[in-house]
Amino acid sequence: MEPTTWDGVFRDGRDLYTANHGPPGDRVYGEKIRTVGTVEYRQWDPFRSKLAALCQRGGVPSDLWSGARKVLYLGGAHGTTVSHLADLLPDAPIFVIEKSPTSFAPLLALARRRSNLLPILADAQLPERYRADVGLVDLVYQDVAQRNQAAIFVENTRATLSRRGRGIFMLKVRSVTQRRSTAAIVQEARAELERGGLEVRAEVGLSPFARDHVALVTRAR
Ligand SMILES: C[S@@+](CC[C@H](N)C(=O)[O-])C[C@H]1O[C@@H](n2cnc3c(N)ncnc32)[C@H](O)[C@@H]1O
Repeated sequence: MEPTTWDGVFRDGRDLYTANHGPPGDRVYGEKIRTVGTVEYRQWDPFRSKLAALCQRGGVPSDLWSGARKVLYLGGAHGTTVSHLADLLPDAPIFVIEKSPTSFAPLLALARRRSNLLPILADAQLPERYRADVGLVDLVYQDVAQRNQAAIFVENTRATLSRRGRGIFMLKVRSVTQRRSTAAIVQEARAELERGGLEVRAEVGLSPFARDHVALVTRAR
């Protein structure tokens, strides 16, 4: 098990792992667990988690989440990716917004096993409903697959992101429209982010791990 340039991410051959900070032996989505010495590692599947896909694709700054003291995560679903982020930042509170009550139940159960996860049942289109609870964060991560996803990202960064704070926006191209080219949709999303005061530092296609997805890595100006 070798450390990578990504803080807290390990590699064994082609597979990525994070060190488990949940209860010993706790599997979140059926992932493989390996124990080396006294440390338990959870395999991080890039086909199930777009953040792992982003690491596998590379080409983005390796300090993406390093030093983040507080995180806002939009679109938590059942907690696959956020469970790994909780391993990567075990001391940082991670506020997780999810609007579907069906997904929220497993997310709540996960948060009972990982004390730095703080789920909120809310619509990410309405950050005014949770900004007072969340306060200022150093990192906003978004994966909501909605038509107006760029606007949602801008609104949430405006509401919560600290000066020079970082963002990871997983753009699902075909949720925006079926009618325009991928390049045109990505260009429009980048322009919307830049109008919203965000510098786009990297753009990474996530194929073959997540089809139709492009990660935009941002920094608040
Ligand atoms: C692709 S899934 C997220 C997968 C998750 N990020 C992971 O990697 O484990 C998208 C999630 O966003 C949620 N979602 C969509 N629109 C939302 C909104 N406006 N506010 C909050 N959650 C939303 C959906 O209910 C769904 O659970």
